[in-house]
Formats: sequence, structure tokens, C-alpha cells
Amino acid sequence: MKFDARHAALLMGGVFALGAVHAQGNAAIDGINKYREMLQDGNPAELFEMKGEELWKQKRGPKNASLEQCDLGKGPGVLKGVFTELPRFFKDTGKVQDLETRLITCMVTLQGFNEADLYKAAPSIGKGEGANLVAITTYVATQSKGERFNLSQSHEQEKTMYQVGKRLFFQRGGPHDFACSSCHGVDGGRIRLQELPNLTKNPGDGVGVAAWPAYRVSNSQMWTMQKRLNDCYRQQRFPEPKFGSDATIALQVYMGVNAKGAESIVPAIKR
Ligand code: HEC
Repeated sequence: MKFDARHAALLMGGVFALGAVHAQGNAAIDGINKYREMLQDGNPAELFEMKGEELWKQKRGPKNASLEQCDLGKGPGVLKGVFTELPRFFKDTGKVQDLETRLITCMVTLQGFNEADLYKAAPSIGKGEGANLVAITTYVATQSKGERFNLSQSHEQEKTMYQVGKRLFFQRGGPHDFACSSCHGVDGGRIRLQELPNLTKNPGDGVGVAAWPAYRVSNSQMWTMQKRLNDCYRQQRFPEPKFGSDATIALQVYMGVNAKGAESIVPAIKR
């Protein structure tokens, strides 16, 4: 039902303008865009990127090894263009993985870290291995800046993940009976001053999946897609998904395939 986005915005106490142009809102959005342009000259995300590069090359973990031989889909050590093809199926794990869960695989196999410990640490993006994972993710993703999304749909599991992601995207639940599609299923949606991209199709260059990981000015944090999805589930009043769970991967496959051809502007700046 078309009503849902409106419903959502009203419940959140937001100003809502669906389709119709709202002069004041647009002026404010122009302001935010200008602010973003200004920051782009000195994007704080670069600090995370630099830290990530150091961590990528540093010998760490029980095996005292670097991540430089990590295979993110295009062979050991290849960084350019890998992010815009993730999530994808990996033969060695037998799973479809996104960048973050794949990096955890490499931290386990190459560096000898304990997998359960890493999954436990990952949601705390401000400290320890959680913060390290955010930095490494930012560094690796940034090597695909300017590349266009092109997810594979050739493996059976990749196709299944797309279908599961699609169902999850439209699945209603929680106290307000929201789905992702309630807020992201129409063109021109908006909550307060934030534009809500239509993620059921290609929302365009640098929008949707093509805008993450991003530095969030409002709370001075670097967010990866795992954190973005987690927060959207929270907004939906759903229980938050487990870090790296199949649900989070499936949603990324659905949105990533839909975004085919969109240019990644990682690392982006968000309000
Ligand atoms: C109650 C409304 C609401 C629901 C439901 C919701 N989101 Fe969001 N979503 C938002 C808001 C608000 C933003 C932030 C927009 C901004 O910062 O410009 C956002 C941002 C996003 C973005 C980044 C878009 C961009 O261009 O930066 C993605 C991807 C996303 N949501 C996916 C999802 C998924 C997947 C679900 C379902 C699990 C979901 N959202 C459910 C409100 C919602």
C-alpha cells in the first residue's frame, strides 16, 4: 500500500513529501549537499581508510600474518573492483559472503583469529576488532571507488539469495507492520530532510548500496552496510539481525543486483 511511507513518516514525527516538491525541504537538502561537497575535500572517512590500509598490511593475529593474500573474489590480493561485485559465492566457504564476512574469513584463515570472537566484536564499531573491521572494510571498499555495481547471479546460491532478499525486503512485521519497502519502495520518499531512495530498482549513481560505507557527520561514525541495515531494522522496530547473518547478506544481494551499473562513490558522507 502506498500509504505506508506516509504512515512511517508521521509516526516518526517527520515532515513528509512524497513526490510533490516541497520548496523549504529542497532548500535544506541543497544545504546538506553543499555541506557534503565542502567535506568531500577533507572527508573524515580518509582517516578510517588510512587505518584500514595499515591494518591490511600489518602482520597480526596468532599466525602473525597480513591480509595481503586475502581472496575477495578476484584472486589473492586483488582489491580493485572486488567491492562492487560483492556479495558473491565463494567456493572455499561454500557461502555467499559480503565484504565484511569475507574479511572475517581471511582474518581467521590467514591470521588465525577466532571466528566466534570476531563475530562477537564486529557490532561494536567504535572499539577493538569491531573498529578494525570497519577500517579495513572502508579501505578495501574505497579501492572500488568509481567502479559500477555488477553482482553475479550465475551461481544457484546467488540466485537464491536474491529471492530471499526480495522477500525480506517486502516482509512486514513489528509493531507498525513495516517492511523495508514501506520506506524504500517508492520514488521520491522522504523522512524529515532525508531522501529515501527507491531500492526496488537502480536508485542511481552514489545512492543506496553505492553510497556505503559512509561517514556519518551526525554522530561522527563510519558506517558499513552491516551497520546501515542494522539501523534500518531498528527503525522498522524489528529485532536487529545478527551481524553477518544470511538475512543481511540476502538483502545486500537483492539491492546490489538491483543497483547494477550504479557508480560507487565510497567513502560517502552522510548527514
Ligand atoms: C521507517 C523507515 C525505514 C525503514 C522501514 C527502513 N529504512 Fe532504510 N533508511 C531509512 C532512513 C531514514 C535512511 C537514511 C536516509 C539518509 O540518511 O539519507 C535509510 C537508509 C537506507 C539505506 C541507504 C540509502 C542511501 O542512499 O544512503 C539503505 C541501503 C537502506 N536504508 C536499506 C533498508 C533496508 C534493507 C530496510 C529493511 C530491512 C530498510 N532500509 C528499512 C528509513 C527506513
